Amino acid sequence: MRIYYSQCWEDPKPLMQSLAVTPEDDVFSIASGGDNTFALLLKNPRSLTAIDRNPAQISLVELKMRAIELLDYDDFIGFIGARPSKNREQLYSHLRPLLSQGARGFWDMNFETLHKGIIHCGKFDRYFKIFRQFVLPLIHNRKTVTTLLGATSTEEQEHFYNQTWNNRRWQGLFRIFFGKFLLGRLGKNPSNFRYVTLENIAEEIMNWTRYGLTKVPIHENYFVEYIMTGRYSNLDAAHPYLQAANFLILKERVGRMQLVCESLADYLKSLKSGSVSKFNLSDIFEYMSDEEVESTLQEMLRVSRHDSRLAFWTLFVPRPVPSSLNGQIIHLSSESEKLYSNARTFFYGSFDLWKIKGRSS
Ligand SMILES: C[S@@+](CC[C@H](N)C(=O)[O-])C[C@H]1O[C@@H](n2cnc3c(N)ncnc32)[C@H](O)[C@@H]1O
Repeated sequence: MRIYYSQCWEDPKPLMQSLAVTPEDDVFSIASGGDNTFALLLKNPRSLTAIDRNPAQISLVELKMRAIELLDYDDFIGFIGARPSKNREQLYSHLRPLLSQGARGFWDMNFETLHKGIIHCGKFDRYFKIFRQFVLPLIHNRKTVTTLLGATSTEEQEHFYNQTWNNRRWQGLFRIFFGKFLLGRLGKNPSNFRYVTLENIAEEIMNWTRYGLTKVPIHENYFVEYIMTGRYSNLDAAHPYLQAANFLILKERVGRMQLVCESLADYLKSLKSGSVSKFNLSDIFEYMSDEEVESTLQEMLRVSRHDSRLAFWTLFVPRPVPSSLNGQIIHLSSESEKLYSNARTFFYGSFDLWKIKGRSS
């Protein structure tokens, strides 16, 4: 049992714009590192359920929730690792009695991780750390990295990328590091590629990255800043849950979030018809067979209210609406493409927004 994602590596902006959550909504969100579920909580939905089949992820989100609830802002950002802190152990001892038995057991066994700040511990987050510590310095010096991050327009980014950044070492080492072999072993799991038929995924990631570094404004891209420097220089422009202006709102609401440790398909079976109106499904369809996707969607149709919305990302496995569900689920393609083209997490194959007609209201 380990944490794979200690932060969410999916831009909350397209998610928030596409789901347009209101206080009338009952929202379902894949937990992952919790960050995007906290962003959804800021919209004050009637109910918010964060689900993950990995108990380690649930322990992480639970600890973040208790830290929001009990600490003040400065202690919170220090405790989780967004800022330096010398008293993480002491802060943990304050939070520990309020954790569930499962989360307490997990964190007691992972004391070392607490020490370093819990937002840096996921396998995928550490993959980026390996990139920034061992690969990037072989390609560019700190000044070059700072210049790219400091570009103030996409024209400037594009010029710098073409003239300086995109050298032979970048092209060669990037393709090795972000190839299926190392990504599968160091960042994810080889089994994550079970349904991927694309041969050269490194080339695909290279194309997405070229687009992201030249067409998506970098000065407001905290994801790229973290990947290249390991920190967020301006927390007020980072993940919504890290922003001081949102902290008191989250503190007041976080107790309402429900945490579920189960696979989505199993949990949906326990829900009443018409009980959900918005879904954030991360990129979980990437790891399902066509049949599993279809049966999960059938169940989602049953639990969805009329005109519910579903947002999800894909990587290398495109997910069109299954033909058996045409008419009941509608792909909002132009809205999806527009949101995808501006995403600060440009390392995905698509961002998709679907409207679910639902069976009850
Ligand atoms: C799909 S992964 C993707 C991570 C993502 N790209 C990010 O940036 O955070 C997110 C989470 O989904 C969980 N997950 C995957 N499939 C699931 C399923 N069928 N039901 C519930 N959780 C699932 C994983 O355990 C993981 O913590």
